This record gives sequence, structure tokens and C-alpha cells, in this order.
Amino acid sequence: MAVSLRSRARLRHLVQSQQLSRQLLDEIFQRADEMRASPHRAAGRLQGRVMAALFYEPSTRTRLSFEAGMLRLGGQTMGTDNALAFSSAAKGETLEDTIRIVNGYADVIVLRHPAEGAAERAAAVSDVPIISAGDGRGQHPTQALLDVYTIKDEVGRLDGVKVAMVGDLANGRTVRSLAYLLAKYREVELTFVAPPQVAMRDDIKAHLDRHGVRWREVGDLDVVLPQVDVVYQTRIQKERFTDEESYRAVKGRYVIDLAAMRRLRPDAVVMHPLPRVDELDPEVDSDPRAAYFRQARNGMHIRMALLDMVLS
Ligand code: NCD
Repeated sequence: MAVSLRSRARLRHLVQSQQLSRQLLDEIFQRADEMRASPHRAAGRLQGRVMAALFYEPSTRTRLSFEAGMLRLGGQTMGTDNALAFSSAAKGETLEDTIRIVNGYADVIVLRHPAEGAAERAAAVSDVPIISAGDGRGQHPTQALLDVYTIKDEVGRLDGVKVAMVGDLANGRTVRSLAYLLAKYREVELTFVAPPQVAMRDDIKAHLDRHGVRWREVGDLDVVLPQVDVVYQTRIQKERFTDEESYRAVKGRYVIDLAAMRRLRPDAVVMHPLPRVDELDPEVDSDPRAAYFRQARNGMHIRMALLDMVLS
């Protein structure tokens, strides 16, 4: 990558999860712990700072947890939702020009964009930190951060953890970023459960091979459920399909419901980046192993830690 992602030991832009070292991860998690334990102690830390949220794709959790985090730290936020239609992108302005302009207004830019590689393009022209909030089918590094933080919290360890990633592994950016981050830990085992049309892509498999991470592909979810510490379920990414028929061919194939929960170990957890459609039955919500709402809550503390780190 041409852009400089870190200045000295500090984190500058965050566009890919593999750029985070174990040391940086520990530091972010420790700060997130502090934010979670005593949120009011952190109030005012980013007073006078401004965050711009440029969202060219829909979002609820990512957008609002970044904003809530910034506000809780005493900073201000501004931004544009539906930026493809409502920003100057609609008039034909390039992403690069938009970023250069917003550089004059904000101290940090949180960017969600439909094009894979958009965050790197933005970082290449930006003097202020770019934090990717998802680039199409590419990556979603801050989601992976909160996911790894949640696994540590729920399972109690990261080294040696066994994770099943289920659903749309080809188009889902969260599982891609999560695979990169988990590859930083020792003796992690990844199991991919996906319809063949949306199997995990080869770039991730090659990365795991290069880093000696054990992975396998299994078609039968029932076999996998009793073997893992974490089931990471994902939505079939309807918006990435070109026609309804190919979407229908893969949707509903793997569902976490009460029957699936009976197969899961008593000390295992179910995670999901959300939003869910029909792949995660709401009946599961009351099971203490359903960790997805706790996971979403962790998102704000992780993003507070990250904003604090890149801005102070
Ligand atoms: C995900 C995303 O946007 O990539 N959601 C999120 O940020 N929590 C997953 C999805 O849309 O299915």
C-alpha cells in the first residue's frame, strides 16, 4: 500500500484490519475497557475536535456508535448519510476531491463506501485520519475490532479460539476483516460454513495459509456447532447480488434457531454483526449464549478507544 498507515508507533489511518499489530490491539482493548468501566472519566477528552461521517451506504450501528462515541468524548460530529445521492458525489465529484475538502473541516473522517479499496484511496489523499467503516465487499476493520474484543470478553481468550464463520463469506466484509485479525493470534482455528456460491474468497485463504492459521470448509453446520467456541453468523448480502434468483438460491440455507442452539456447547456464544434478516431466529435472543446485542454495545467503546487513539 502506498499510503503511510502509521506515524511512529501511532495509528494514523485504519483501512485494513491486518495493519493492526498485537501491541496496538492490546492498547485499543485496554482503552475500550477503561471507556466501558468509567465512561464519564473520558468525557471531554476530545473537546474541540470534529468528526466527519461520510456514509455512501446505509448504516445504523456503525454510524451511530461512532457518533455516540465522539459525543461522549466531548467532540462534535457532522456528516452526510446517503452521500451518493446527497453529497456532491451526485454532481460527479470524485471521492478524492470530497476527502480533500472535508480535510479542511474535520479532524477525523469516518468513511463507508460501496467500492472495494475506497478507504485506501481516501487515505492516500487525506492529511487527517481516515477510519474505514466498510468499503463494499472489502473490509470493515472497526467491526473486526469490536468482534475480537467481544470474543475476548465472552470466551475469555483469543489464542486457541475456534470460530465458525457462517453465511455470506464472499460478500461479507466483516468476516474478511475478522479473519485477518484473528490470524494475529496463536492456534486459532477457523471453520467456514457457506453456500458454495458465496464461499470465503481465496485472498483470505492464502493469507491464513501464509500465517499458518488452520482453516477448513464444512458444508454441514450441525457437525460444526458442537465443536466451536464462537458461531459468527452473517446475513446474505442481498445488495451485492446482481439478480434476485441467485440471492434466493443461497438465502435461508444456514439458520441459527433453537434446534441449532441445542447443538452448541454450553460455553459457546453466537455472534452476528447485525442487521439480521432470517438467518438468526429472534427466539434465540433470550439464550444467554446469544452475544450479539452485547457485541453491538461493545462497538461504541471500541470506537471511543479508536477515536481517542487517533486524535490524542
Ligand atoms: C455489517 C456491514 O455493514 O458490513 N453491518 C455492520 O456494520 N454491523 C454487516 C451487514 O450489513 O450484514
